[in-house]
Amino acid sequence: MAETNPFVIRFMDRRHIPQVLEIERVSYPAPWSETTFSNEMISGVSVAIVALVGESVAGYVVGWVVADQLHIANIAVSPGHQRRGIGNGMMTWLLEEAVRKGCTSSSLEVRESNLAARSMYGGLGYRSVAIRKGYYSNPAEDAVVMLKDL
Ligand SMILES: CC(C)(COP(=O)(O)OP(=O)(O)OC[C@H]1O[C@@H](n2cnc3c(N)ncnc32)[C@H](O)[C@@H]1OP(=O)(O)O)[C@@H](O)C(=O)NCCC(=O)NCCS
Repeated sequence: MAETNPFVIRFMDRRHIPQVLEIERVSYPAPWSETTFSNEMISGVSVAIVALVGESVAGYVVGWVVADQLHIANIAVSPGHQRRGIGNGMMTWLLEEAVRKGCTSSSLEVRESNLAARSMYGGLGYRSVAIRKGYYSNPAEDAVVMLKDL
């Protein structure tokens, strides 16, 4: 049976950023910078959370609340903590927070080839609504636009 470390959700703060950057750099070919994450801390539209296993950051999500929609801007779980429900748990927490903030829908883009993430979003109730041709670079790829009513 897979090990199931309990995790807790906290709002991201500056102390988490070094560990967030480590996960970011192994998760994405064009990782967000320290400055980008720092700016998210002071942006009025951002809701950034981390999942902590003990003192360690196991994953994070950055969402943007714009009018009545939550847009998922960034999500990753450390490779060593994947497939243990952390991605789902963080998304569920953030979607509930978005409802508390008055959101009525949530949107995101995902690489067409990212079947793990697409499966997670599908399980959370997102549906594919459009393809954005050539949305991603490094490597070039189309984006699937997904939407969920809240
Ligand atoms: C996508 C990601 C955040 C999922 O995090 P996670 O903590 O492993 O996800 P969970 O354990 O909560 O799994 C939730 C569901 O996602 C799907 N899933 C996750 N990893 C999967 C994989 N490797 N293959 C297929 N489905 C997968 C499954 O449907 C899973 O539900 P199940 O375990 O009941 O089958 C993680 O794989 C990741 O960080 N990937 C790299 C960054 C990334 O792609 N971010 C998304 C960009 S849009």
